Amino acid sequence: MTTTTAAPTGIFITFEGIDGAGKSSHIGALADLWRAQGRSVTLTREPGGTPLAEQLRTLLLHDAMDPLSEALLMFAARRDHLLQVIEPALARGDVVLCDRFTDATFAYQGHGRGFDLGTLATLEQWVQTVPACATVRQPDLTLWFDVPPAVAAARLAGARDPDKFEALPTEFFARVAAGYAARLQADPGRFARINAQLPLPDVWAQVQQACQRSGWLA
Ligand code: TMP
Repeated sequence: MTTTTAAPTGIFITFEGIDGAGKSSHIGALADLWRAQGRSVTLTREPGGTPLAEQLRTLLLHDAMDPLSEALLMFAARRDHLLQVIEPALARGDVVLCDRFTDATFAYQGHGRGFDLGTLATLEQWVQTVPACATVRQPDLTLWFDVPPAVAAARLAGARDPDKFEALPTEFFARVAAGYAARLQADPGRFARINAQLPLPDVWAQVQQACQRSGWLA
């Protein structure tokens, strides 16, 4: 008699928000929570997550370049990361927790820099077409840490040497935040908006509730 085992079901969760939104500490806490439930977790980030993409990250976060080069390098890093890390992890059945993904490109390069959104949509289709997906690969859930740009700027002030993006003015981040709101509006079923202005325990409660609503966490 042969027994068949159902293919493992990976879960792809992304974390988004303007710089200073305070998402980082919650990513680690959520990883611990999933592990406590016996799930294997892949914790990763964009731009980055592979040796090649981490090299591109260094260029992207520190070198000046035109908006097209910036968008192309973001997607080049993403393609490598998707094929080398995210897809294999999902195929193993891991919970993939990824600090930023394509919504950041629409928000930062599209709405922030003013780069053409239609071109970004074409690149999204090319880069996120993978054999395991009938359509393009998208996160199962995106947690958007929404915070007013002035609050985020106050959090970042004096925290560390700002990189190329962190050094941009509050008006840039207001456009980025509007970009995230537009992405949510276009795909509300995928997004959970987290009020990241609240005290840390309240933000954490919202993060847990979003995963519980999806039926993945007890
Ligand atoms: P972080 O990992 O500290 O959040 O920094 C990554 C920076 O890169 C952040 O300022 C947002 C920016 N970024 C983009 O501009 N476009 C993208 O597609 C991604 C993934 C990040």
